[in-house]
Amino acid sequence: MAQKIWLITGISRGLGHALAQAVLDRGDLVIGTTRNGEPPAGLGCESLTVLPLEMADERQIARQVEVAFGRHGRLDVIVNNAGYGLLGSVESASEDEVKQVFTVNFFGPLALIKAALPFLRAQNSGHIVNISSVQAIASTPGAGLYAATKAALDAMSHSLAQEVAPFGIWVSLVQPGAFRTAFLSAHSARRTAHSIDDYAATSGRAVDGLLTRSGQQLGDPRRGATAIIEAVDADEPPLNLLLGSDALTRTKARLDRFDEDIRRWESLTLSTDFPG
Ligand SMILES: NC(=O)c1ccc[n+]([C@@H]2O[C@H](COP(=O)([O-])OP(=O)(O)OC[C@H]3O[C@@H](n4cnc5c(N)ncnc54)[C@H](OP(=O)(O)O)[C@@H]3O)[C@@H](O)[C@H]2O)c1
Repeated sequence: MAQKIWLITGISRGLGHALAQAVLDRGDLVIGTTRNGEPPAGLGCESLTVLPLEMADERQIARQVEVAFGRHGRLDVIVNNAGYGLLGSVESASEDEVKQVFTVNFFGPLALIKAALPFLRAQNSGHIVNISSVQAIASTPGAGLYAATKAALDAMSHSLAQEVAPFGIWVSLVQPGAFRTAFLSAHSARRTAHSIDDYAATSGRAVDGLLTRSGQQLGDPRRGATAIIEAVDADEPPLNLLLGSDALTRTKARLDRFDEDIRRWESLTLSTDFPG
């Protein structure tokens, strides 16, 4: 298989670090981003270029995408991985907290995609991989606004995939369940500053439960990285790739519930068309 050139955001740790490592191990070239531009521990090698990138800085995103394309003359795979979780009830989240999580998890990846597309269209090839979450499909109490950022990424990606297919560009969404990274640690996940006692039994309990499982999540980032590479290498890559047994169980339950609503309310659904 020909050597591929990858741009991966957020390689300092977690899934991004594991993916960069696995891609380098198989002999591909990686341009990875960290917030300070320093190579993360254990990843320094000639095949890796590290660029500084803060996902809330749209101008920096546009500049670094240009630098990334210039580094080897093309990019084959672009992975929007950097992101974080906002945990707390929908009602308790402040406007600033909501804006910030959308800025990093949705508007940042969108800016990166828009900056990359003129280059990808010119080269008539490429693969955009957006790291979403099972929360985009089956959201839980206490994660509604994080889920909303990933659902926005999913909906946009579904349209984008159809728009860019004629240019030989693939779009894939990766929807992981819980993976054993720093995602739930105090370094990464943010709880809403305000909390409302009335939600203690719903979102409060769900968030406490999530945080106590930090470090015991089912998903292995290295296995996740291998799966992402296999999907990228496929002749026809998936539009949606669930990762982990928990992601599969939750998605099936959500689809069953959706199917039940469709069947139960079908006659009401069909009642709104103009007759004839
Ligand atoms: N782990 C899970 O259970 C899980 C499940 C579903 C989806 N995901 C998604 O998977 C992706 C990777 O998460 P992870 O589990 O690997 O978490 P992680 O260990 O916390 O790593 C997150 C990465 O994103 C970077 N990042 C966060 N905010 C950033 C910002 N404003 N600008 C630039 N970089 C930023 C971090 O950089 P710093 O080191 O500088 O903070 C780090 O490299 C995220 O999009 C997450 O939503 C994770």
